[in-house]
Amino acid sequence: MDITAKPGTPFADPSFTMGVATSSFQIEGGADSREPCIWDTFCQQPGKIADKSDGLVACDHINRWREDIDMIASLNVDAYRFSISWPRIIRADGSVNQEGLDFYIAILDALAERDIKAYVTLYHWDLPQYLEDEGGWLNRDTAYAFATYVDVVTKAFGDKVFSYATLNEPFCSAYLGYEVGIHAPGKVGKEYGKKAIHHLLLAHGLGMQVLRKNAPQTESGIVLNFTPFYPASDSEQDKAATQLAHVHFNDWYIRPIIEGEYPALLNELPEAHRPVIEDGDLEIIAQPIDFLGVNYYTRAKVEDNGGEDPHQLEPPADCEKTAMGWEVYPQGLTDLLLQLHRDFTLPPLIITENGLASDDHMVDGVVDDQQRLRYLQTHMDAVTEAVRQGVNITGYFVWSLMDNFEWALGYEKRFGIVYVDYATQTRTLKNSALSLRRMLAPRKQAK
Ligand code: NOJ
Repeated sequence: MDITAKPGTPFADPSFTMGVATSSFQIEGGADSREPCIWDTFCQQPGKIADKSDGLVACDHINRWREDIDMIASLNVDAYRFSISWPRIIRADGSVNQEGLDFYIAILDALAERDIKAYVTLYHWDLPQYLEDEGGWLNRDTAYAFATYVDVVTKAFGDKVFSYATLNEPFCSAYLGYEVGIHAPGKVGKEYGKKAIHHLLLAHGLGMQVLRKNAPQTESGIVLNFTPFYPASDSEQDKAATQLAHVHFNDWYIRPIIEGEYPALLNELPEAHRPVIEDGDLEIIAQPIDFLGVNYYTRAKVEDNGGEDPHQLEPPADCEKTAMGWEVYPQGLTDLLLQLHRDFTLPPLIITENGLASDDHMVDGVVDDQQRLRYLQTHMDAVTEAVRQGVNITGYFVWSLMDNFEWALGYEKRFGIVYVDYATQTRTLKNSALSLRRMLAPRKQAK
């Protein structure tokens, strides 16, 4: 099959932004030319990464960025979303690593030469280890350190950036990193998650203040991930458990940003789990944003199993799943977008990540990733449906440009539309990339 942009849909409209996305730690490598980050440390701990790998080389993008940007340009996309490695910019002694800044400036210039808009994420999980040594996101000072880093970056990049996102998926940093410990830095405890998120959100707000000052011409916002939850049955208990999951995993992250308040559940948390919220914090967090980035992959069903927490069910055996074991459920994306639109007064939305890991193999130079083609088409259709029902969505980014380091799952999960042979670092466009390129060609010509 081919991915198509049906006439009359946003995907056929050249003003709707189409892009591909990556993040620094997942592709760059070049660990010796930056400070260590929490993921370097985490990767060294036995049993944390499924294939025992690390990010020392990754896709070697640090050396291959020129050909990677040519490859991006060849896809006919409008935009490239990538992240800046904080430990590549600010050294442990607080000094600025000019070589790190120059690396990104060269990328920004190469994108501009190819007429590709730069969507820059300022924090995609690679916290400098020297900050974790002081408590990381459990330490309020980290939010101020972030603002200093944003100040350095924005002054150096000038007007080269089309869009800045402060944070990527703070849920993952806070909950996976500091509550359940399956991501770096691997802390475990209910007393940590909500404290970490408060400091992350404060960092977002302080970062927004710097962006408004240093980059007023740039579209600035944040990227959140959402899981739409559905009750496992019609029982009142399952419905209540579903609502609770929604509050903990979705609402907790968006409500402070859009409405300047945490869900009411905050007051019911045990004292030890509650963050310290200083006067004025919520005003800082709730500054206006120009866009909200939405990352969507799958949904979850929830049941009340009598336990303290809402219980998320594994997807049923008979549904289509990705290589991550995640249910393929495009309707969830429409439902999510409609729910966000109903619940909040929002700035324009951008789908900043959507895609899947699949069991891709290269045969005679061809990677025929039919599941990805289907997934992208059905999820693009789901976006179209939300737009038809009145949601303002201005762009869509495929996760990911190329196969890369999938965090605790290492290199075995392949999310790219480009296949990476890690032994040789050869890139091969999968059929999804070739199809996307064809789909986007007429839009490119129309520009
Ligand atoms: C979300 C994250 O932003 C990205 O880093 C990750 O690789 C994808 N989801 C897939 O899990």
